[in-house]
Amino acid sequence: MILDVDTGNDDAVALTMAAMHPDVELVGCTTVVGNLTRDQATDNTLRVLHAIGKSEVEVHAGLARRFAPSPYPSAPNPAEGMFHQDTLPVGVAGLTPHSWRGVEWLVETLRRATHPITLIQVAPLTNLAAALTVAPDVLDSVEEVIVMGGAWKKSGNRTPAAEFNIYADPVAADVVFRAGIERLTVVPLDATHEVLVSRDDLRRYRELETSAGHVVSAVTEYYIDSYYATDPHGIGALLSAPLHDALCVAYAIEPAVLELTEVTVDVETVSPQNYGRTTIDYLHGSSGTVGNARFAVHADSERFHRILDDCLKR
Ligand code: RIB
Ligand code: CA
Repeated sequence: MILDVDTGNDDAVALTMAAMHPDVELVGCTTVVGNLTRDQATDNTLRVLHAIGKSEVEVHAGLARRFAPSPYPSAPNPAEGMFHQDTLPVGVAGLTPHSWRGVEWLVETLRRATHPITLIQVAPLTNLAAALTVAPDVLDSVEEVIVMGGAWKKSGNRTPAAEFNIYADPVAADVVFRAGIERLTVVPLDATHEVLVSRDDLRRYRELETSAGHVVSAVTEYYIDSYYATDPHGIGALLSAPLHDALCVAYAIEPAVLELTEVTVDVETVSPQNYGRTTIDYLHGSSGTVGNARFAVHADSERFHRILDDCLKR
C-alpha cells in the first residue's frame, strides 16, 4: 500500500499501523498540505517512522498547494492549530524526505508496479488528483483507493456542510470521485466517529512498552485534549478522539471492520455555503450516475481496537 498523509495526529496512528503490521507492505508515503503545511506534514511523517524504527520506509513530499484553490475566503477555522501540533513530540529533527517529487514518484511507482497497489488517502486529495490528471493510466495498477473523507448523516467537521479533507480541496476530490476508479472505498465521519481512542487506551498503549505504543500514546494525548477543548459536550466529554485515518488502515488490514454500501458520491465545488459537501445518492437516481463508491456507514469499534492493539504490541 501507499499512504498519502498530512501528518497530524490521526495520520500518525495510521502510519504506525501500516508500518508495523506484518501483513502490510508499505511501499512508501506521500505527503501533502492539509492539517499543516506540506513541510510540517513531511517532517512529522519522518519523525513517526524514525520513532518506530521504520526509517527505511520511503517518504516523498508531495504538493504544497491545492489542486484547485478555493474561490472563496476560507471559512474561519475555530480549531486552527488545535488538533494537530506543528511538530509531533516523537522522533528527531532534521530528517529529509527521499524526494520532493511525491506526485511524480506515485506515477512512476504505479507505472512500474508488478502487482496491484492499494492507495490509502487520509489527507486532502490534492496529490492523487494531480497524478490522475497527468497519468490516468496509473489506475491499471491500483487495487483499491481508500479515502478518509466526507460525511453522510453527520454534519461536517470543518464547516457544518463539509468534512476537512474534502473541504480542503473539493475539486481534487471531484476529480478522484469521477475518475472511474473500479474499487473506491470512502470512509466518512459517519464511520470514523465510531472508533474513538480514550485516555484509558493511552494508558494501555504506554504499558505495552513498545515504540509503537509510545508514539501512539504521545500523539493522541494532545488529540484528545483538543477534542475536549473544542467539543466539550460531544466527543470531548468522553475524553476521547476519533481515529479517522487509522480506521482506513484497519479496513485495509481487515475489511470486516467496516459496513459498506454502494452509493454515488458527488462533491459540491460551487456553492459558497456547501463548498466541499459530499452528497450521497443511495438511489442512483438524482445523480444520474451508477454508484461510484462503496461508502462506510458503520465501523466495528471492538474489531478496530483489536487490529490497532495488534499493531502496537509489536
Ligand atoms: O476530517 C478528518 C480528517 O481531517 C483526518 O484526515 C484528519 O487527519 C484531518 O486531516
Ligand atoms: Ca489526515
